[in-house]
Amino acid sequence: MWTLSGVLLSIALTIPVGALEKEPLAEYASRRARVVEQIKGNVLILFGKANSDLVKFRQEDNFYYLTGFSEPNAVLLIDATGDQPEEILFIEPRNFREERWTGVTMSAGAEGQKATGIRSVQVLGEMAPAMTRVIQKGRKLFTLTSDERTSDQLRKLPMADVQNVAPIIASLRVRKSPTELALMEKTVKITLSGHEAAARTIAPGVWEYEVEAALEYEFRRRGAERPSFPSIVGSGPNTTVLHYDASSRQMQAGDLIVVDIGAEYGGYAGDVTRTYPVSGKFTARQREIYQIVLDAQKEALAQVKPGATFRQVHMAAFNYIRSKGYSAEFPHGTSHHLGLYVHDVGEQRTLEPGMVITVEPGIYIEKEQLGVRIEDDIVITETGYRLLSDFPKEIAEIEALMARSSSSPRR
Ligand code: GLY
Ligand code: MN
Repeated sequence: MWTLSGVLLSIALTIPVGALEKEPLAEYASRRARVVEQIKGNVLILFGKANSDLVKFRQEDNFYYLTGFSEPNAVLLIDATGDQPEEILFIEPRNFREERWTGVTMSAGAEGQKATGIRSVQVLGEMAPAMTRVIQKGRKLFTLTSDERTSDQLRKLPMADVQNVAPIIASLRVRKSPTELALMEKTVKITLSGHEAAARTIAPGVWEYEVEAALEYEFRRRGAERPSFPSIVGSGPNTTVLHYDASSRQMQAGDLIVVDIGAEYGGYAGDVTRTYPVSGKFTARQREIYQIVLDAQKEALAQVKPGATFRQVHMAAFNYIRSKGYSAEFPHGTSHHLGLYVHDVGEQRTLEPGMVITVEPGIYIEKEQLGVRIEDDIVITETGYRLLSDFPKEIAEIEALMARSSSSPRR
C-alpha cells in the first residue's frame, strides 16, 4: 500500500526542481546544429554555471540557449570533427544527501536524454577521458573564453587552439524564434502587470521600496522567476540617476517617479519604463519635458524597420531632443537588444526581423530634480515592428491610470 510519504516521494521524483517554461526540445537541438555548421572540424565545450550555496541558481545564458538545461555544474561537449556530430551533456550524479537540501536533480542516461533531447547524458566523472579523446581530434576548441568557470577548467585540459564561441552564439541569439517570442510576450505582459501595481501604489508619502515590493510581488505572483535586473524606482532627485536601485526615498507631492522594471520569465527579460506624477497630475513643466521625451520616442519608432540601423533610430530621438535644447540631458543610447539578458548580446547595427529591442529616450535635468524616461519593447517584423509593451504613455492616459489606481485599494 502507498503511504503518504511514498506518494509524495514519487511525485518529487518526477518533478524537476526549478523547472522553467521551456521551448520545445527541437528548438535547442536546431540551435546546436547551427553552431555545429559554424565550427565544423572542431570541438565545442561549454561550461554551465556552477552552484553557489544559498544563491538561487540561474544558468549561463549561452548554455541555456543551446540546452534548455538549468541545473548547476553541467558541461556540454560537441564533437564536430566527424560527419555526424557527437553531443554529450555531462551532469552531476544524483546525490541523495544533497537532494534533501536542494531537491531532486535529473538523472544521467535515458532520463536525461528524454528530458533534454541530447543524444548522450553522462555523469561528470566520465568527462575527462571524453575530453582528452575529442580534443586531440579537433583543430580548434571553441568555448566561452571570458567565462570564469571556463578559464579554471581549461587549465586542466590538454593544450588546444582555444577560440571564443560567444560571437557565433550571439549571432543566433539576436533573432528570436517564434517560441522565444512567445516567452518574451509573457515576460513583457508580466512586466506590465508590475507597472499596474506600481501605478496603484504610487502616492505622496509612500516609500519607493513599497512600490518596488508591490511590483515585484506582482511579477512573482504571475510566475516570473525574478526581476530581470534590479528594479529602478526613483522619485524626485532620483529620477535623474539612470540606474538608481536603492528605492529608499519617501515620495513627495509634486515629484515625478521613474519606474524602469522588467520581469524574467522562462529565462527571458522584460524592460519597460514609465514615468508617473506622484500626485496623479503632471505640473506644466513636467508635461513639457514629458511630451518632448514621448515625441522623441515616436520619432525613433518611426525609423524602425528591417534595414534601419540602431544609430538611425537613436539619432531620430537624439535630434528631436536636441532641437528642443536638451541634448546634454540625454546621456544614453536609445536602444539595446532584449532576450535572455536585459542588455542582450548581439551587434547593435542593422535591424532584422525577429530582433527584440527597446526604444527608451530620456531627459534628466539634475538641477530641477526632473527626470523622464519612456521605454518600450518591440519586435522587428518584415515591414516594421510590433509593440510588445502596449501600456498607457500619453499624458492623458497616464493621468487617467493614476486616477483609476488611486480609487482602487492600494495594498
Ligand atoms: N532598464 C535598464 C537599462 O536598460 O539600462
Ligand atoms: Mn532598457
